[in-house]
Amino acid sequence: MSDLTGLVAAITGTSAGIGQSSARALIAEGMKVVGGARRADRLKDLADELGDAFVPVEMDVRTPTDGVKLVEAAVDAFGKLDVLIANAGIGVYGGIMDQTDDEIVAMIDTNVSGTVWPIRAAVPGMLSTGSGDIVIIASVAGIRGAGDEAVYAATKFAQVGLAGALDRELRAKGIRVTVIAPGGVATEFAMGTGRTPDMEGLEKMLRPDDVAQAVVAVLKQPRSMRSLVWSMRSIHEED
Ligand SMILES: NC(=O)c1ccc[n+]([C@@H]2O[C@H](COP(=O)([O-])OP(=O)(O)OC[C@H]3O[C@@H](n4cnc5c(N)ncnc54)[C@H](OP(=O)(O)O)[C@@H]3O)[C@@H](O)[C@H]2O)c1
Repeated sequence: MSDLTGLVAAITGTSAGIGQSSARALIAEGMKVVGGARRADRLKDLADELGDAFVPVEMDVRTPTDGVKLVEAAVDAFGKLDVLIANAGIGVYGGIMDQTDDEIVAMIDTNVSGTVWPIRAAVPGMLSTGSGDIVIIASVAGIRGAGDEAVYAATKFAQVGLAGALDRELRAKGIRVTVIAPGGVATEFAMGTGRTPDMEGLEKMLRPDDVAQAVVAVLKQPRSMRSLVWSMRSIHEED
């Protein structure tokens, strides 16, 4: 297993859920983390908790230049960027005709464009060193679809397709690309847009730290191997 000490990661969506847990988990492994999201107050709280190993960046993944801002913050603070985790995402559940045009645009823009822009910002530096990891947090919805999640599933299929193509484009240049595809995770995700805090089964879902530990395990793989797609589900989740 590779030692992660001293590596530098940029993570989108660190104001909550999987991204926040991943920031904690990577810093526990001795890494430095630059974390982006829109809610500056949440990022400040995390920075107060994690100290000098964490640098918060207020950013919107839908804005191409904000991807650059995130990567530049890593280089400014820690001198390099070894790992990009494209995690930020939103979900609005319901039938295809139940969603508003704005909700559909927001999902596509956040989950698809918001994955592409930070990756485009990170790749040049990784190519210059001939090494790097890109980890995309997709979903099982991006492997087999799911009822009442058509557009969300489409955005997650897009992430899986993007990763497969990038693996072919970048692997020979030293950049490893991995998809982590969780089933349901008990976070703020889709709260009010398909989930409620008191919904049945929430307590049986994966915990955000379960996914964060998968991120750690992916990065710890020897550089001679890659996982491509790591799908993970709660022991309680039905097929
Ligand atoms: N929870 C699940 O059941 C589940 C299952 C499979 C996959 N996933 C995927 O896991 C990823 C993380 O989800 P989560 O469960 O941790 O959800 P979460 O708790 O709601 O966190 C989502 C994060 O994304 C950020 N984000 C959303 N829109 C953004 C934007 N425009 N610009 C920057 N940051 C933005 C949020 O920050 P701000 O709002 O502060 O910007 C927040 O930090 C998503 O891609 C999701 O699709 C989740």
